[in-house]
Formats: sequence, structure tokens, C-alpha cells
Amino acid sequence: MGLVGESGSGKSVTAMSVLGLHDKRRVVQSGSIRLLGRDLLGLSDKELTDIRGSVASMVFQDPMTALNPVLTLGRQLNGVIRAHQPEISRGHATERAVELLSLVNLPEPRTQLSRYPHELSGGMRQRVMIAMAIANDPKLIIADEPTTALDVTIQDQVLRVLKRAKEETGAGVLLITHDLGVVAEMCDEVAVMYAGRIVETAWVQRLFENPGHPYTKALMRSRPLMSERKPSLDAIPGMAASASSKIDGCRFHPRCPLSDHSAGCDSIEPPLTGATGHLVACHRATWDGDGAAWTLPPEPGNEDMQ
Ligand SMILES: Nc1ncnc2c1ncn2[C@@H]1O[C@H](COP(=O)(O)OP(=O)(O)OP(=O)(O)O)[C@@H](O)[C@H]1O
Ligand SMILES: [Mg+2]
Repeated sequence: MGLVGESGSGKSVTAMSVLGLHDKRRVVQSGSIRLLGRDLLGLSDKELTDIRGSVASMVFQDPMTALNPVLTLGRQLNGVIRAHQPEISRGHATERAVELLSLVNLPEPRTQLSRYPHELSGGMRQRVMIAMAIANDPKLIIADEPTTALDVTIQDQVLRVLKRAKEETGAGVLLITHDLGVVAEMCDEVAVMYAGRIVETAWVQRLFENPGHPYTKALMRSRPLMSERKPSLDAIPGMAASASSKIDGCRFHPRCPLSDHSAGCDSIEPPLTGATGHLVACHRATWDGDGAAWTLPPEPGNEDMQ
């Protein structure tokens, strides 16, 4: 599952909240966070610690800050394995660590165990993070912009390793990204976030064929495409609203070309509606059950683009 949205829309806060890693001065005001039928919001710190790194694990954007700089990779992998499987001997944990490092395509995995994070390249460190994330056969892996800190040629390799890790463990992956190209390549389903709210969820192909929310449409138009030569990209006018900003009605309405006072865009928050497999939160979008598609009215001054 992909989670996309502009910088500041609240993707990381959402991901961290799932594992109870959010800033504890913030309170969860409503809703629930369910994993395997359990509501994680009701769990104690101890119970959450048991879940982190075993049932659910996380791959962060910057592997250098997520790895401990003063411990060898072997010690760190051993620590992760034995924290959740204390019955495993050190020797067995080391064998498992070698297996994990070869699964993420690290060359000479046994030699890597005695190395420190700073001795590895960024792409290699991110593969170590993926190895740690799958060490205890999680059911859920949350990867928060796992390739943003890497250069483009390495990004693809790391994404392929993540895909393989998912296949090997059978875990579900929540992949956070602001790159729709990554979503197209990696995800089955996608949720689009704007200013702290999910505005659209769909199967990936449906989202690209029939974006139902004006924000999703705008995001797609602002993408560079190899097949089109444009003098400039269509940027979304206005500033992205932060997840914490207070906005009445639909949070996208101040930037939305279709915003309409009489439809309630500036006063009523639209709920997510539609059919399973394609939900949209927009007062102006209409669901056509027969055609199984969303339609939006033409954008003023932009009719030819509809
Ligand atoms: N649910 C929320 N309620 C209130 N404030 C929130 C919520 N989610 C996020 N915020 C605020 O918005 C800020 C940005 O959120 P966050 O870091 O999650 O954005 P992001 O989408 O991960 O951005 P980036 O793409 O830059 O990593 C947070 O620091 C927090 O102050
Ligand atoms: Mg983030």
C-alpha cells in the first residue's frame, strides 16, 4: 500500500503513530489503529515494544541516523533478532544475520558483520535497515521514504530489495513516498493524503486511469512525463497546507479550482465515499455506479483538459 502526499501532509506522523513512536506530547484524538484485529492504541508501552521489530517494523528515510554508529552490523542484527527471539543462541543469530544480509543482496555478507555503518554506502545501509526490518518475520513493514536519501540509480535497487523482502516474508508493506512513479511500480493500492486527511484511496491502476479527487488530478499533472514535452510543469497553485493547520470544510478548498461555496466545500468536511476499491472525499466528485467511475465537473478556464 502506498501513502502519497506533499511534504508536511502528515505521512510520517501517521506512520510513527502506528507503532506508538509519535511525540507523546501529542494525543490521538479519535479513531483506532488496528493490526491483526488488535487496536494498538489500547496497548501499554511494554506491549508496543514487543510489537515493534517483530510483528511490525519500520524502515526510515535516513539509515545513518537509524543505525547505531558505534556498533558493528553483526551486533545490531544480533540485537534485533535476540530481542524478540531470546531463545536463539548467539551462533544461530549470527547465521540468521548472514542469511538476512544475503537476502538483501549485500556482497560478502559474513564479512559485513564486522563492519560499522559508516563503512557502508547509503544504499548498502538502507539494505541493512531492510534486513533488520524483516529479521523477525513481521506482518507489516512500514517504509517511510526509504529511497529519498539515495541517488536515483541506487533507489531502484533498494526498492527491488524491498519488494523481494516483502515476497520472502509475506508481510504487508506500507510504502510512504511523494513519488507517484514509485507508487506505480511498487504498489497495489494507494492512499493520497492532503493536510493530514486521506482524500482518495484506490487500486493503483484505477487511480492513474480515473483520479477522483481534484488534488490527485493536480498531483498527476505536476509530474514530469517522458512522453510529453512541456515548457513547464503544472504546479499546484498556493501553498501546501500543513497537517496541523485549521481549515474549515475540505482542507484542499483554498487551492482547489472546483471549490464551490454552495456545495459546502468551504464549510463541510467531505467524507470518504464511493465503492470499495475507490474512495474519494470531495463534494464535487460524483460516483457513477454503472460505469464504476468518478467524474468531476470541468475546471474553469481549463475545459479542454478534461
Ligand atoms: N494528524 C495530525 N494532527 C496534527 N498535526 C499533525 C498531524 N500529522 C502531522 N501533523 C503536523 O504536521 C507536521 C508534518 O508532518 P509529517 O512530518 O508527518 O509530514 P510528512 O508528510 O512526513 O512530510 P515529508 O514528506 O516532508 O516527510 C508534523 O510535524 C506535525 O506538526
Ligand atoms: Mg515524512
